[in-house]
Amino acid sequence: MPVRLGDTAPDFTAETTEGTLRFHEYLGSSWGMLFSHPKDFTPVCTTELGAFARRKAEFDHRDVKLIGISVDPIESHRGWIGDIAETQGAALNYPLIADPERKVATAYDMIHPNANDTFTVRSVFIIGPDKKVKLMLTYPASTGRNVDELLRVIDSLQLTANHAVATPVDWKDGDDCIIVPSLSDADAKTKFPKGWKTLKPYLRVTPQPNK
Ligand code: BEZ
Repeated sequence: MPVRLGDTAPDFTAETTEGTLRFHEYLGSSWGMLFSHPKDFTPVCTTELGAFARRKAEFDHRDVKLIGISVDPIESHRGWIGDIAETQGAALNYPLIADPERKVATAYDMIHPNANDTFTVRSVFIIGPDKKVKLMLTYPASTGRNVDELLRVIDSLQLTANHAVATPVDWKDGDDCIIVPSLSDADAKTKFPKGWKTLKPYLRVTPQPNK
């Protein structure tokens, strides 16, 4: 069964560059971002791992724990992380899972045989403090991810987890939000004291509530 939004993120114990860890224990009460890399010693993956390391403080600020995975063995990861530090301006500062038996990759359905039957695609799973999967993204091996977009969706997930709003197209932290259609105008009056603009009964725009 593939993992779907709202499911409990499968727990696992795995060997990583920071020792053996149990996934749910590693996450603790934080948010988490699990992301897969098709293969060690490949160019796009090297840039991604470096960028996540350089910008880790921005994930820490949002209480998001990073953890990468590649199906290559731990000895291979140890060699590769030297290259990442050498070429990307930052040393790896979060664990990278070694998954040679593809246990984690299989549990998270990261191998898409019609794309490649050996390597994982570039999956991203963002997991809430309740261990539920809040967001899933899938990129092919040839396309690197965008750190700004990942931080943007985390901002949206954390905002909408705590306030009765949704975020519109191209939203970024600080922009106006949309009041969820299930909230009546009467209830919205107490939740959104700054008020809102009604463009349509189902489209009510309000300033970001936590700003
Ligand atoms: C890369 O990370 O550069 C990559 C990995 C697998 C296939 C193609 C590119």
